[in-house]
Amino acid sequence: MSYPEDLREEVDRYLEGLSFPGPASTTGLADAMRYSLLAGGKRIRPVLCLAAGRAIDLDTQSLLPAAGAIEMVHTYSLIHDDLPAMDDDELRRGKPTAHVEFGEAVAILSGDALFAEAVALIGSGPWPPERVVEAVEVLSRAAGVDGMVGGQYVDVTVESLDEEGIEMLHSLKTGKLIAASVELALAIGAVPEADRRPYREFATQLGILFQIVDDILDVTGSEEATGKPMGSDERHGKITYVSLYGLERARELASRAHRGAVDSLDGIDAETGSLEAVADYIHDRDR
Ligand code: IPE
Ligand code: IPE
Ligand code: MG
Ligand code: MG
Ligand code: MG
Repeated sequence: MSYPEDLREEVDRYLEGLSFPGPASTTGLADAMRYSLLAGGKRIRPVLCLAAGRAIDLDTQSLLPAAGAIEMVHTYSLIHDDLPAMDDDELRRGKPTAHVEFGEAVAILSGDALFAEAVALIGSGPWPPERVVEAVEVLSRAAGVDGMVGGQYVDVTVESLDEEGIEMLHSLKTGKLIAASVELALAIGAVPEADRRPYREFATQLGILFQIVDDILDVTGSEEATGKPMGSDERHGKITYVSLYGLERARELASRAHRGAVDSLDGIDAETGSLEAVADYIHDRDR
């Protein structure tokens, strides 16, 4: 099965329909938010959310606010990740980064606003109140200290990392939002705790796989395909799977994580074809 393009199209349509109204003087802020959000991107996290929804028979339309919210949080993380104080990169999704296009202050604010609007979007989702509460908690925890921002903190402050350390770093900065993409569907679908284990194992392996491939592409990829500058990690002296293990071993570890992810789907008694297709795509991608 190939990458669920139909789900990606649903996500793109949904995101295009979002507006961020405020007083007339904030139009430029909304424009900056939409610039980064609609610049393209693989939409892996929202597609993953909808693919998990498919496995548990949730209606795709009703899940779109959750899928959209996770992509907004991800986009905010990219805007801040590219800032001069962080990775200082000038190309993202094939376009000038937000701070290059709008200046640093507006870029920072557009990230802040995307996060806040994401929480508002999921907080007003069309689900029973207790599902909404769980979804808001899943999303914001995944972005917090024991999640993406905590991982970014480790990324910019740590001076050396061993093998266990890099797995922890990656599972925080990338893995937690990927895991949340799946967990949001489980939360909204009210899947009992006891049935969530194989989904969580799948998502954990997928998060590791995702960032190993990201590290590999920083070395072997092309700017044209990825839409971001190559060699950024080495320029900034980042510790990555490639710097720590070398390319060949990093590739082996990626394949191992991919196998782990796919194997964990065996534990799910449902149609998991779309989830497997996302795992294959993340393993094989060149962008
Ligand atoms: C890049 O994420 C940033 C990381 C978490 C490594 P993606 O590779 O999913 O970027 P887009 O969304 O497709 O632009
Ligand atoms: C960033 O990791 C992960 C985020 C939380 C945004 P990277 O710094 O490796 O992401 P890219 O390579 O710039 O997309
Ligand atoms: Mg970074
Ligand atoms: Mg970066
Ligand atoms: Mg990277």
